[in-house]
Amino acid sequence: MPLRKKLIAGNWKMHKTPAEGARLAAEIVAAVGKEPAVDIVLCPPYTALESVGRAIDGQEVRLGAQNMHPEKNGAFTGECSAEMLRALYVTHVILGHSERRAYFVETDDFINRKVLAALPNQLKPILCVGETLAEREAGQTFAVVQQQVEGGLKGVTAEQITTVIIAYEPVWAIGTGKVATPAQAQEVHAFIRGILAKLYGAARAQKVRILYGGSMKPANAAELLAQPDIDGGLIGGAALDARSFVDLVNAAVAAQ
Ligand code: 13P
Repeated sequence: MPLRKKLIAGNWKMHKTPAEGARLAAEIVAAVGKEPAVDIVLCPPYTALESVGRAIDGQEVRLGAQNMHPEKNGAFTGECSAEMLRALYVTHVILGHSERRAYFVETDDFINRKVLAALPNQLKPILCVGETLAEREAGQTFAVVQQQVEGGLKGVTAEQITTVIIAYEPVWAIGTGKVATPAQAQEVHAFIRGILAKLYGAARAQKVRILYGGSMKPANAAELLAQPDIDGGLIGGAALDARSFVDLVNAAVAAQ
């Protein structure tokens, strides 16, 4: 049994109606079978959570949301709480995606509040971090990633950390077709595990899964997933098609 089971998560972003989502989920479920050797999470938009939840009911595929508000309820137009997501059988939630940081001006403090609200509600956070191209070129990759990891995890306890999933998504690789090389990705993943070891001890850090995201496709997945600190993928474009998503699942099974 490996220390960390690989995980393939599909971030559907703002794609798929409830009916389209249910169809895609049903195709994925049919192809991966009853006992996939890796963890699989589908993250449709809020409006398709219910239909996708129904399509994967009773299967070894989990449901994730793409965002969440930290408060329980209240006057927050357009937002959803942890409790609301749990009521739809959501088990995972993507937090701090770079698109939310950039377009919706989410700060590390706000993202941290979401992480702290997700955990007691049995929602596993998928905390996204990653540098922009300008930051990489300025030699700031490690400083940026460190700030995002430490800022996002403030107040997360040693008991809680093993249920947190980190996703390293270099912004310059998202939706661009420009994938990080396995060595570039591994270097940052190892750096993140080092931060976790300092915060929570080496043994716990070894149990935390760190996913890679950014133009991951069946053609480049095997090499990335073979890296010692890459524990899976957070997939955008290639998660919108059953065949490519299932190919990625199979690549993770082969790398497990
Ligand atoms: P792409 O796979 O489309 O590059 O998107 C990655 C991503 O942002 C997943 O959260």
